[in-house]
Amino acid sequence: MLKYDFSLLDGCAISVALTVTLLLRRLSKRSRLSLPPGPPRYPIVGNLFQIPTTYLWEKACEWAKTYGDMVFIDAAGVPMLFINSHEIAVDLFNKRSSNYSTRPEFVMPTLGGWKWTTPLMPYGEELRKHRMYLQKFYQTPNVLNYLEVQQKNCNVFLQSMLEHPEHYEEHMGRLPAAVLMMNTYGHQVENENDRYVKLGQDCVRASAGTADYFFLDLLPWLRHLPEWFPGAKFHTVAREARDLSHIYKNEIYALSKKKLLDGTAKECMTTIFLGENGQEGGVKDEKEFVDVAATVFLAGQETSSTALMNLVLAMLKYPEIQRRAQEEIDRVIGRDRLPAFEDRENLPYIKALCSEVLRWQVILPFGLPHVSSQDDVYRGYHIPAGTMVMANLWGISQDSRLYPDPLEFKPERWLPGGCNHDSLRPEEYVFGYGRRICTGEVWADNLLYIATVTLLAAFNIEPALDPNGVPIPPNERHKSSVIRIIGPSQCNITPRSEKHVSLIRDLEVA
Ligand code: HEM
Repeated sequence: MLKYDFSLLDGCAISVALTVTLLLRRLSKRSRLSLPPGPPRYPIVGNLFQIPTTYLWEKACEWAKTYGDMVFIDAAGVPMLFINSHEIAVDLFNKRSSNYSTRPEFVMPTLGGWKWTTPLMPYGEELRKHRMYLQKFYQTPNVLNYLEVQQKNCNVFLQSMLEHPEHYEEHMGRLPAAVLMMNTYGHQVENENDRYVKLGQDCVRASAGTADYFFLDLLPWLRHLPEWFPGAKFHTVAREARDLSHIYKNEIYALSKKKLLDGTAKECMTTIFLGENGQEGGVKDEKEFVDVAATVFLAGQETSSTALMNLVLAMLKYPEIQRRAQEEIDRVIGRDRLPAFEDRENLPYIKALCSEVLRWQVILPFGLPHVSSQDDVYRGYHIPAGTMVMANLWGISQDSRLYPDPLEFKPERWLPGGCNHDSLRPEEYVFGYGRRICTGEVWADNLLYIATVTLLAAFNIEPALDPNGVPIPPNERHKSSVIRIIGPSQCNITPRSEKHVSLIRDLEVA
C-alpha cells in the first residue's frame, strides 16, 4: 500500500517536474529569441527620439533598407512593428488574424469617448456586430441600391463642376458626403451649408485634432494631470470632441427615425434596420446601430474625396494619360451620352486608371494599426503581446521590386501585357487586411469609377497658366496625417464641348 502511494506521488512529482522543465525551457527559448531587427534602442526612451513627427511612413521605408521588411522600434516602452511587405502583412493579419485584430488603446480616443467608432474599437463581440451591419449594407450595392444614388449624386457633382469648377475640392468633398448621408440616413444634402455634413466634418476634424496629442500615448501618466494644469489642454479638446460626436450621431439618427414614423423617410440603412429590428417597447441593438451608422460618414467621406483629389492631381501631371482615357470613352460610348455603371467592363483603360489612382497615392499610408493580443513567434523573431503592428501600405505601393518606376502614374501597367498585369493589385492592400479590412471598399471603388469616368468624359483638366503663359505646377504635397489629404491645385476644369455642356445640363438629379 505504502509502496503504491509512494509510486503515485512519485509519478505526480515527476510529471510536474517535467512539465515545469518543459515550460521553463519554452519560456527561456522564447526569451532567447530576438525581437525583429530595428534601429538601436536607448535605455528607457528606446527609439523615441528617432521617430519623426511627420511622414513616418517614409522613415519606415528608409529603415527597411537597413533592417529588412520587418522593423521593430520601441517608442518609450510602446513596441511597434512596421511591416514593409504584403506577404508578411498577409501572414500576420490574415493567416494569424486571431492574434492581430485588435486596436491600440490610444489615450485621446479613450478620454474623448471615441471608442464607439468601428475603426477604434477593440476586437470583440461589439465589433463583430458593427462589421456585420457595415458589410451587409456597403459591401454589396444591392441592399441599398447605392449605385443609383451614386450615379444621381454624380450628376449633381458634374453640374456643380460646370457652374463653379474653381471650387472642385468642395464638390469632391460633397459627392461622397451626399451619397453616404442618403445611404445611411435617407438624408438629402441640398447645399454646402448642410447641418449634418458640417457636423460630420467637424467630428472628423475634431478626431484628427486629437492626434496632435499622440505624446500622451508615449507618456500615458500625463493623462492624470488636472485640467487646470498648464499645458493640459487635451482634457478640453477631448471633451469638446466627445460632445460634438454625441450631437452628431444622435441628432441625425433621431431625425431619420422620426421621418420613418412620419412616413416621409427615404429607404436607407436606418429605415431597413428599424424595419427589421423594431419591436414592442424598443429597438434591438439600437445603441450599436447608432454608432455604426455614424461611423460610416466619419470613415468614408474624407477617404473617398481624397481619392478624387488624387485623380485630379494625376490628370494635371499626366495630360497624355487624360487624352488616352478620353479617347477610350469616346470610342466605346460616343459623345451622345455620358458613361454609366453598365459601361464599366468595356472600359479597361479607365479601370486601370482607377487602380493606378489608388496605388500612386495611397490614402492611408499605414492603414490603421493592429495590435498583437499575445506573444507570437514569426520567422524566428519574438513579437511581444501589445505590439502595435502597422503595414506600410505606402511603402508597398512604392516598392520598385513590385512596381517598375513606382513614382510614375502609369495605368497601362495594369493592362494585359503591361509590366504589372499579373502583380499585386492595389485593391488587395490599400483597404487594409484581415478581420479589420475596410468595410467600405466596394462602395468606394464604385464611387471612384463613376466619378472618374463621367468627369473625364465631360471635362478637360489642365494646369492654370501664370502671367507668362507657363503652366503652374500642381500642388503635390500631401498632408502628414492618418489620411494623406491633398489640397487643390491652380487649374482649369472646362467642358470638352458645347455638346457636353448640354449633356450635363440635361442630367437627372432629383
Ligand atoms: C478610397 C476610400 C477608402 C480607403 C482607401 C479606405 C481604406 C481603409 C483602410 C486602410 C482601413 C484600415 C484597415 C485595417 O485596419 O487593416 C479602413 C478601415 C475602415 N474603413 Fe475604409 N477606406 C475607404 C473608404 C471607406 C468607406 C467609403 C467606408 C464606409 C462606407 C469605410 C469604412 C471603414 C471602416 C468602418 C473601417 C474600420 C474597420 C475596422 O476597424 O474593423 N472606408 N479603410
